[in-house]
Amino acid sequence: MKIKGSIALVTGANRGLGKAIVSALLEAGAGKVYAAARDERKVSADDSRVVPLTLDTTKTDQILACARKAADVTLLINNAGVLNSYNVLTTSQSEMDADFRTNVHGMLAMIKAFVPVLERAREGATVVNVLSLASLASVPTMGGYAASKAAAYSITQALRPELKSKQIDILAALPGPIDTDMVRALQLPKATTADTAMALLVGIERGEEDIFPDTMAQQMGALWNKSPKEFERAFARF
Ligand SMILES: NC(=O)c1ccc[n+]([C@@H]2O[C@H](COP(=O)([O-])OP(=O)(O)OC[C@H]3O[C@@H](n4cnc5c(N)ncnc54)[C@H](OP(=O)(O)O)[C@@H]3O)[C@@H](O)[C@H]2O)c1
Repeated sequence: MKIKGSIALVTGANRGLGKAIVSALLEAGAGKVYAAARDERKVSADDSRVVPLTLDTTKTDQILACARKAADVTLLINNAGVLNSYNVLTTSQSEMDADFRTNVHGMLAMIKAFVPVLERAREGATVVNVLSLASLASVPTMGGYAASKAAAYSITQALRPELKSKQIDILAALPGPIDTDMVRALQLPKATTADTAMALLVGIERGEEDIFPDTMAQQMGALWNKSPKEFERAFARF
């Protein structure tokens, strides 16, 4: 799909990658960007095309209110995510639940609410789920989070044929580490949010089902294509 003239909604748009995606969309000529955040006062709205929305993706009433207000969306970017659960033997049930609540159930609830909206788009519409390289094989030090991102990837695949029949594409973004609050403590090379957001839009325009938006993602994506087992072993060393 073309970003120019599109009407996008980005979740978790107040900081990190979501904020950079909003800027990249505006730069690329999006017609309107609904910037959804748990606290909409934290959204930068210095461009008249930005419409801030209050949205916690774990709250059904807020999701339904957004689907009513943003009834012209053609590009839904499910970016909101959390990282609470680490080693699967030591992480608590409530930490795992928190990751699944936002990363899996919140994402799916957004798609369910927005399918009727996206179906109305005359030239087809797109859903982008911001997942992770950890959707493809676990990083054991964040095994709970990885499990939530793997489940979200499986749901993305599950939705693809049905959404296709409604002229809606569904794409998975699979980044490596990005320089945001989420992984502030990790001592690893990280991509910038601006570069990741721009590469994400290129992948959307190309309609890539699996978007590998940064250098590490591209390298690891190539390894995954060649040998999922080697990919798993490489991630087990992180
Ligand atoms: N950073 C990385 O290395 C990396 C790598 C691969 C994938 N990702 C994925 O990229 C996405 C963006 O993450 P980030 O790195 O930008 O993280 P971040 O800096 O921690 O930002 C997370 C964003 O998600 C929002 N959010 C969290 N739970 C939410 C909920 N229930 N409802 C609505 N918004 C919610 C946060 O809002 P508040 O400000 O209200 O908390 C914040 O805007 C996530 O899906 C993450 O899993 C990140």
